[in-house]
Amino acid sequence: MLHSITGRSPFRQAPYGNNNYSCQEYRPRDPPLMISIINLRIALIGGAGFIGHNLALHLKALGADVHVIDSLQVNNLYAFSRAQSEIVNRELYVQIIQERLDLLRQADVTMHLQDAREYHALNQVLNDIDPEVVIQLAAVSHAGRSNKDPYSTFDHSLRTLENALDYSRGNVAHFIFFSSSMVYGNFLGNIVTEETVCEPVGIYGALKFAGEKMVIAYNQVFDLPFTIVRPSALYGERCVSRRVGQIFIENALTGADVTIYGDGSDALDFTYIGDLVDGIVKVIENEESKNETFNLTYGGARAISDMAQIIGEYFPDITVKYEDRDSLMPERGTLSVAKARNMLGYDPNWPLEKGFLKYIEWYRSLFARNEVGVG
Ligand SMILES: NC(=O)c1ccc[n+]([C@@H]2O[C@H](COP(=O)([O-])OP(=O)(O)OC[C@H]3O[C@@H](n4cnc5c(N)ncnc54)[C@H](O)[C@@H]3O)[C@@H](O)[C@H]2O)c1
Repeated sequence: MLHSITGRSPFRQAPYGNNNYSCQEYRPRDPPLMISIINLRIALIGGAGFIGHNLALHLKALGADVHVIDSLQVNNLYAFSRAQSEIVNRELYVQIIQERLDLLRQADVTMHLQDAREYHALNQVLNDIDPEVVIQLAAVSHAGRSNKDPYSTFDHSLRTLENALDYSRGNVAHFIFFSSSMVYGNFLGNIVTEETVCEPVGIYGALKFAGEKMVIAYNQVFDLPFTIVRPSALYGERCVSRRVGQIFIENALTGADVTIYGDGSDALDFTYIGDLVDGIVKVIENEESKNETFNLTYGGARAISDMAQIIGEYFPDITVKYEDRDSLMPERGTLSVAKARNMLGYDPNWPLEKGFLKYIEWYRSLFARNEVGVG
């Protein structure tokens, strides 16, 4: 029996781990219905990206039958391999992406090279896989790039989603959509919950919000069970998206200045990839996640200056510069993960001091292992 989109089980209202109920108030929870990951057929559309390949490797290690569908065209191998490309650190990123693909191959994850914008071809690939779970990650995954190229963002983000949804109706047991914290727009307070009204700013957030509405509509019209996840400011091994933490580390490693846009007080809910991947496993395993939306972040915003300080402690010789803030970047903060904790047992355990240090050390060993071209 599926929960309605807005319906809430009365059990969910009770705070977990709190035994101060009167006898009348206390109602034991039904044990949640759990799904086994072992041999579960899972298709990750956009699965060769930063999040996707880390998730694919983890799901495979847990025993799932994992299939990656990716065109490698967007923020991936072909984009960085173009001979004329003027992309910063191109050689380094090609090498990092090769490492992703090697890891996927070594782990025996099946790779399907397919553009998800092609409706019939995607259908054919998905028909062959016959997945029980579809995870939709494909997108132009960067707010700045989306504002520069809205047409292509629409195509890779919404067109691919529409195709994935249309295959999935009637065919899959669970559709998981990667939305974003950017649906909230400017945070009015320090913290948002899944109930906070969404007022996205810019193309990326608007398309994510539209995507959420499409996913919900497919549930309303076709009963497609779904989960919407809203991650934020991820960092970790083998990312090539040049978000703030990655640029800080690369600059520090090559002796360049570290630039902060704004005064450093902008706070983001920086999330280590390991926490997100654990959260998605909980979403897949737990029937309670169906037809719900979850923030999946660390659950505590940190100022960009905190990140710069960690870098400064690791690389004492760096110089930090300040430049104007991008006015289209919404002011953000903490995404409450109380709902995911309570309903799914999500338990993020990578604070910035621990996760960012691990990321720095991975980058340092990458530079030490190889003569990589930077610049
Ligand atoms: N990384 C973050 O901090 C973050 C935060 C919030 C939400 N998200 C969302 O999570 C998802 C994954 O993000 P990521 O960081 O791994 O991004 P990414 O750019 O590393 O990966 C996206 C992948 O999608 C693939 N893709 C794009 N268009 C495609 C198409 N038409 N057909 C087939 N494959 C296609 C790309 O080739 C790429 O491998 C995205 O939807 C993103 O918007 C990411």
